[in-house]
Amino acid sequence: MDRRTFMRRAVTGTIAAAAGTTFYTIKIEPHWVKVVQRALPIQNLPEELDGKRIVQISDLHIGPVVDDLYMKEMLDKVAGMEPDLLAITGDFITYTNGASVRKAVSIIESLGDSLTRCVGIFGNHDYGPGWSDEGIGNSLESSLNGLGVRILRNEILEWQGLQIAGIDDYWGPNFGAKVVLPRINAGRAGLVLCHNPDVVDLPLWGDYKGWILSGHTHGGQCKPPFLPPPILPVQNSRYSRGEFALEGGRRLYINTGLGYLAKVRFNVRPEITEFVLKQKV
Ligand SMILES: [Fe+2]
Repeated sequence: MDRRTFMRRAVTGTIAAAAGTTFYTIKIEPHWVKVVQRALPIQNLPEELDGKRIVQISDLHIGPVVDDLYMKEMLDKVAGMEPDLLAITGDFITYTNGASVRKAVSIIESLGDSLTRCVGIFGNHDYGPGWSDEGIGNSLESSLNGLGVRILRNEILEWQGLQIAGIDDYWGPNFGAKVVLPRINAGRAGLVLCHNPDVVDLPLWGDYKGWILSGHTHGGQCKPPFLPPPILPVQNSRYSRGEFALEGGRRLYINTGLGYLAKVRFNVRPEITEFVLKQKV
């Protein structure tokens, strides 16, 4: 092969690889959902909860960017998994205008029967522009309540003997970890839902030694192989996705989200997490 032919083939190959990667990043991976199944060992778990399934979804970002049909299909898939409890860890919407909440409701209805066993917390986007509009959060909460979803805003839900504490968003106007965390009885089974994983580094956790389920990062949405994601909306850049052991015996799980802010994902597939509860020994 002469030098000119070699160069022509090298350039053609590079262009084809770039086009293929771009196509994959925009057209394939943003909707290529991975169902992650894992055990969730909890201390003092009531016997009746052993083997029950909690499904976590996060960061739906229903709004102008996420494909409506894709999201409806994924929520229908979640409903088909028939979780014992469905936990939605924030960023239901990407707010654009007064119609945003109505649109979210029309899509979240796809969760069907599982809406009656659904608990949620808010993320920063659920408070609209600047994460600061309590009116948007209140309107979203009452609409979701109307569907049967219980939103925990610095509250604890007792679910069959498991304390489920929901912390309102760290960047929003109603962050209240200080209010809710001391109310968890550390001698009983507990689980914390907290959108932004940076909260786990705050000195507020007391005796709590259980799991914290988060979202927020989307895993960075794009991650080069063998390298960390270049963009993560957290102070502690360790917190990208998956499981982390924390100080005090606590553990963190970060779900990569179902939606996206821009329709690109590379090496960070969207995720539905199915946890199976078991007694921690
Ligand atoms: Fe998000």
